[in-house]
Amino acid sequence: MAKEATIRVAQGENPIAVLRKAHKEQLLLCDQLEEIADSLPDSVNRQKCIYAARALGPMVRVLHRFEEDVVFPLFAERLKEHEDIEATLNRLKFEHCEDECFAEELTEALHALGANRPDINIEATGYMLRGFFEAMRRHIAFESEHLLSNETLTAADLLFTDDTDRGPS
Ligand SMILES: [Fe+2]
Repeated sequence: MAKEATIRVAQGENPIAVLRKAHKEQLLLCDQLEEIADSLPDSVNRQKCIYAARALGPMVRVLHRFEEDVVFPLFAERLKEHEDIEATLNRLKFEHCEDECFAEELTEALHALGANRPDINIEATGYMLRGFFEAMRRHIAFESEHLLSNETLTAADLLFTDDTDRGPS
């Protein structure tokens, strides 16, 4: 079986900087999904729905594999003195799982919207879109606050983090 796609960290690249960049890209996708939700029912840009449908699943899965294979083990080690770190990382993994299932359903709905299928339930699609991007923003905010705080980052991580994208300290 082919190995699942993930984000590769180039030699000399800092995984935290890579994570921040991936978070930013996901937040941009959330903005696009919000734009689509706001455009319902009469001003939908069908092309944007198709683009979002294509980007959504792979982007979510690739980031999750990277977090679970690279970032979480890093923080499990760094924060091993914190008794709740294992529970926190398990909770985040569970949310990844939920979001991946949700992303699959949403991809279908976005394709239906993009194709202007007559059977689409606009209200349910809007509800699904909002549920997804709100959960995704909350998840990213939690990771930024609990994993990417100044307390958990090393001097090397901070070197790769400019002030404009540093999480709360
Ligand atoms: Fe995550």
